[in-house]
Amino acid sequence: MAPEPIYLRRFSRTERALHWVHAAAFFVLLGSGLVLYLPSLAFVGNRPLVKSVHVDTAIAWAAALILVALLGDRAGLRRTLRELDAFDRDDRLWLRGIPVRQGRFNAGQKLNAALAAAFAALFAISGLLLWYGERNTRFRFAGTIVLHDGLMWISLVLLVGHLYLALIYPKTRHALRGMTHGSVRVDWAWVHHRKWVDELLPLEGSAGEGDLRQPAGAIDVEPPQ
Ligand code: HEM
Ligand code: HEM
Repeated sequence: MAPEPIYLRRFSRTERALHWVHAAAFFVLLGSGLVLYLPSLAFVGNRPLVKSVHVDTAIAWAAALILVALLGDRAGLRRTLRELDAFDRDDRLWLRGIPVRQGRFNAGQKLNAALAAAFAALFAISGLLLWYGERNTRFRFAGTIVLHDGLMWISLVLLVGHLYLALIYPKTRHALRGMTHGSVRVDWAWVHHRKWVDELLPLEGSAGEGDLRQPAGAIDVEPPQ
């Protein structure tokens, strides 16, 4: 009989809630933004309605993110932020296509997280300027709409890549389990995030390179769900 797979906890409830709130709001903002941007989509609804959906979602998005962060596991979020922020020599090598071991997040994921955070801030600033600009000409700048639209196009490209890796590419799509159930199979993590597995599972014995050795002692392991 095949042994029961071991699962490692990858994302806490707070991290998953944050991700899905961000993703859901992003999709509504993207959809309503596209309707505002493309005249050919104007049939979807009257413009003032779509615009208020867009602006209200932006407000709900910011409020929900703050709420999840305040009510959730803040210490865990800070730890994850530090992990995303730490860019070491291995990350630089990995980006140059050299297959070195990666930690809990690989260099591409760290870049994706940094871009998602920077874009969220830039969307909010440019969106607020668009909104204030309608009420007060002092806040009206020619570049604001160019920035807001440009961010949308770049985000769209990043999102397609993100969705491909999360839903389609066979080698990486097991990651989706981490973002839905919270845990991933240890053998998958061993291949993609070996430094992370090494930190979680202190190894026993001296088995050769590439062997999956038995986890020692109390570890952050969940039963399969
Ligand atoms: C805090 C976040 C955001 C705020 C406050 C915000 C606010 C706004 C405002 C006030 C407008 C002007 C509506 C009009 O009069 O036509 C606008 C337009 C638009 N937004 Fe956003 N937005 C935000 C995020 C986003 C995101 C995440 C996307 C796409 C991924 C997006 C895409 C667009 C697009 C495409 C337009 C139409 C611009 C045009 O007419 O050329 N926005 N947004
Ligand atoms: C249906 C839509 C989405 C799916 C299925 C999805 C899936 C995932 C998965 C599986 C992960 C975990 C990867 C890992 O194991 O580390 C992840 C992480 C992440 N997602 Fe999403 N995601 C979606 C939408 C979005 C959107 C709209 C954004 C931002 C605009 C976003 C931003 C991120 C970021 C910043 C991370 C952490 C860094 C990374 O792993 O790249 N996701 N997503």
